[in-house]
Amino acid sequence: MAEQLDFGALGFKYRKTNVIVSSYFKDGQWSAPVASADFNFDFSAFAGVFHYANSCFEGLKAFRGVDGKIRLFRPDENAKRLQRSGSHLDMAVPSEEMFIEMCLRCVKENIEFLPPYGYNASMYLRPVLIGCNPQLGIASSTEVLFAVMCAPVGSYSGAASLSPGTAVIARNYDRAAPNGTGAFKLSANYATSLHPYNMAHRQGYRELLFLDPATKTYIDEFGSSNFLAIKGNSYVTPLSDSVLPSITNKSLQAVAEDFGLKVEKRRVPVEELAEFEEVNACGTAVVITPICSVDDKQKLEDTVVTKTYKIGSPDKCGAVSEKLYKRLRGIQDGLEEDTHNWCLYLD
Ligand code: PLP
Ligand code: COI
Repeated sequence: MAEQLDFGALGFKYRKTNVIVSSYFKDGQWSAPVASADFNFDFSAFAGVFHYANSCFEGLKAFRGVDGKIRLFRPDENAKRLQRSGSHLDMAVPSEEMFIEMCLRCVKENIEFLPPYGYNASMYLRPVLIGCNPQLGIASSTEVLFAVMCAPVGSYSGAASLSPGTAVIARNYDRAAPNGTGAFKLSANYATSLHPYNMAHRQGYRELLFLDPATKTYIDEFGSSNFLAIKGNSYVTPLSDSVLPSITNKSLQAVAEDFGLKVEKRRVPVEELAEFEEVNACGTAVVITPICSVDDKQKLEDTVVTKTYKIGSPDKCGAVSEKLYKRLRGIQDGLEEDTHNWCLYLD
């Protein structure tokens, strides 16, 4: 029930809302989208999604602004990325128009779950594309469900926004393979990171930092988000084929340029962590999460040697990162002018 929600303590978790909006692709066409209060889907145990991970998804947010208007942040970018992911699985994909229409409808039909302005909370939309037809052999799905669901969310980690956390480098695991699927938002990529993520969390780290899978020399990204660092007047972020192209990172790069920072998209050697003044995870769920230390545990003969990179203050977000965060969140909340035309209004 929406009226029982404490919008100041939402965290990031499943909550039942009113409806899920979905459409089914079969025989060359998508069905008319329907909104259903039944959150259980009915399809075969032989569906490709259960066996071969014929599945990809998206994450985007709707915000209720200071002016009472409701804004979706760059849904066109999520639509395009879902199209790229689904096409990589050789599945049918919704048009950009259909994707956006279904996201808007999902917000409308669940409107009482959209957090009010002032709680630093939002409505997280989770569009999923899953292969449903029964099959046995390895094949792309010919019948596809596209569903948009949502949940009111606050902080991803549960910690106060902009409070720094720690990370550990995944030395013995990769989230993606060279020439693999890291640049697509496939469900399979997350399955790969579950086990090392659990280990990192058990050891008390907030984030897990993956390296380039080919050489384990350069920084790729966090398990949940992209990597961004501040060095002098530069905004530094990895250039890599195995990193998910983050819409938040892309937006922050534009904001950084607006502030006169130089954006460096390039390979980032692990050792450069010692030279950064500020490091953050960035993404829709994490927004900007400052990372104040990164542990690199490497096995040398029989002993594990930990090298710790300390970055900035353990108590406070870096000044440049905070400025970037405030501009981005300000645009989403209607506090700052949307000079890039990123927001789509719900009428
Ligand atoms: N990288 C990974 C692995 C992610 O799961 C996400 C989240 O979507 C991101 C990066 C950030 O992407 P975006 O800013 O588009 O949410
Ligand atoms: C997002 O930021 O939207 C993601 O998909 C990441 C996931 C950790 C929730």
